[in-house]
Amino acid sequence: MKIRVLGAGAGGGFPQWNCNCVQCAGVRGQTIKASPRTQSSIAVSVDDEHWVLFNASPDIRTQLEAFPGAHPRRGIRDSGIKAIVLIDSQIDHTTGLLMLRESSSPLPIFCSEMVRQDLTSGFPIFTILGHYCGVQHHPIPLDGSPFSIDGFDDLRFYSHSLKSKAPPYSPHRHDPHDGDNIGVIIEQVSTGKKLYYAPGLGEIEPHVKMALANVDCILVDGTFWQHDEMERRGISTKRALDMGHLPQSGAGGMISTLVELPARKILIHINNTNPILDEGSPERHELNAHGIEVAYDGLEICL
Ligand code: MLT
Ligand code: MN
Ligand code: ZN
Repeated sequence: MKIRVLGAGAGGGFPQWNCNCVQCAGVRGQTIKASPRTQSSIAVSVDDEHWVLFNASPDIRTQLEAFPGAHPRRGIRDSGIKAIVLIDSQIDHTTGLLMLRESSSPLPIFCSEMVRQDLTSGFPIFTILGHYCGVQHHPIPLDGSPFSIDGFDDLRFYSHSLKSKAPPYSPHRHDPHDGDNIGVIIEQVSTGKKLYYAPGLGEIEPHVKMALANVDCILVDGTFWQHDEMERRGISTKRALDMGHLPQSGAGGMISTLVELPARKILIHINNTNPILDEGSPERHELNAHGIEVAYDGLEICL
């Protein structure tokens, strides 16, 4: 199985358009060692030709152009992207769907019932797409039972609900429901290799722990280093856990969860305020010492 990171940044990307924090200013002015990152998305394939897209970011047009696997090759209108899985209904994971409206057939989209509801109410992208290519919605189970995607016979998917946050425009923003945000295990049947993907993860519940311990590669929430990182930088009073993101540092943080695990461990969905983006930072060195990687746009992982 091949995994292509299309965008390793969190909402806003890196640098963010209106941000003058040390990281954003540093990457703009090339005064720190860091690469820009577009917003959160990956693609997965077993044949290098047909890809499942996970999340459709606002940067999708640039991401797909930068990725030969997605280019049209087989006809006057075509794409290597054959299906789309949505992890949640947040802006950074769904707005790109609007950029796919020229599709000549309804977009095959796999998502939870909660995400479907958000995308037909508070942020009615599915409804809007009904006036263009349309959406062919496929519900996904959250009880651990596998689901498959047409055309991907060698892949099996398992999803479960995570403690994270529905977006501000969700009708149940303050009333969490199963399926507001999911983690997915992607298994290649012929090899038994497994990836766990969870770009928004607020709590390591027992079912998450089990998934993390049983896969070959982990691509997991790398949004914030500290719970109050944005506040410390004078940017916002929003805190990591209130946004549904477990910070990396500190007791019970993401690092303490990941260090013990045998899998390849990679952080993704990294916010522009996170010091790990600076390859010369002590925080990045700490990750390196623990064997934890930081995803970047264009990274390809072969399992
Ligand atoms: C999140 O991951 O918490 C959201 O994408 C934040 C945002 O809307 O930018
Ligand atoms: Mn996000
Ligand atoms: Zn910034």
